[in-house]
Amino acid sequence: MTSDGFGRTPVLRAVNVTKELPLGAEVVRILRGVSLEVYKGERVGIIGPSGSGKTTLLGLMGGLDKPTSGMVEIDGIDISRLSESRLAEVRNEKIGFVFQFFNLVPTLTALENVMLPIEFARKPKFHPRRRAAELLDLLGLKDQMHHRPNQLSGGQQQRVAIARALANNPPLLLADEPTGNLDTEAGKVVLKALADVQRETGTTVVVVTHDPRVAEQMDRVLTLLDGQLLRQAEAFA
Ligand SMILES: Nc1ncnc2c1ncn2[C@@H]1O[C@H](COP(=O)(O)OP(=O)(O)OP(=O)(O)O)[C@@H](O)[C@H]1O
Ligand SMILES: [Mg+2]
Repeated sequence: MTSDGFGRTPVLRAVNVTKELPLGAEVVRILRGVSLEVYKGERVGIIGPSGSGKTTLLGLMGGLDKPTSGMVEIDGIDISRLSESRLAEVRNEKIGFVFQFFNLVPTLTALENVMLPIEFARKPKFHPRRRAAELLDLLGLKDQMHHRPNQLSGGQQQRVAIARALANNPPLLLADEPTGNLDTEAGKVVLKALADVQRETGTTVVVVTHDPRVAEQMDRVLTLLDGQLLRQAEAFA
């Protein structure tokens, strides 16, 4: 485990990560050596054109997929070397995911959706029902706790997804286009919810986005182009 000159340890560290996938007889190089460090409490945005590899990178950083080469560390743990069962544990404890299309369980209420990751935890840190109710309240969904996803608006569903992602108080929240599928108003509400919750919990956030309003809320914005991060200076050139 390394730290920067100030003794900080990154919550997330990617070192020279590559991803190649076969496409017929060819190999597509989706990520071409991506390195980045994100420190505790930071809010980092990742922008870049469609097809530049943002979702792929987020998936690797969250342990949903393995890199072809390179390394990803979460809280000092090299996740590319873990067994599937240990990886599932690390994901449950340390990483919250917010997807573009919410991915809530349709048959469960908002409350039950948020309780799920706490119930799955090997050593739960919270009382599932109490914690889920608290988070939904924090996200302005006190009156919708017993609604099922199809009884909620898109913005409300996304806030439930944010509550679910935060259920086990993970040190890292990864979000892929959290406002990408919402209208302007709903997007605003979700953005504010994300900012409020981040302030309240101090969770480190990495957000992939096309939305300049999301990018504005970040401490740093990185640009991905053809599977490589631009250097900061290039990104603002
Ligand atoms: N399973 C796969 N097999 C082959 N190529 C893939 C696969 N998944 C993604 N790709 C390719 O990898 C590249 C990056 O895809 P990715 O989904 O990471 O882009 P993105 O930056 O998230 O784009 P968008 O902004 O449209 O969501 C694309 O060119 C895509 O076609
Ligand atoms: Mg994408």
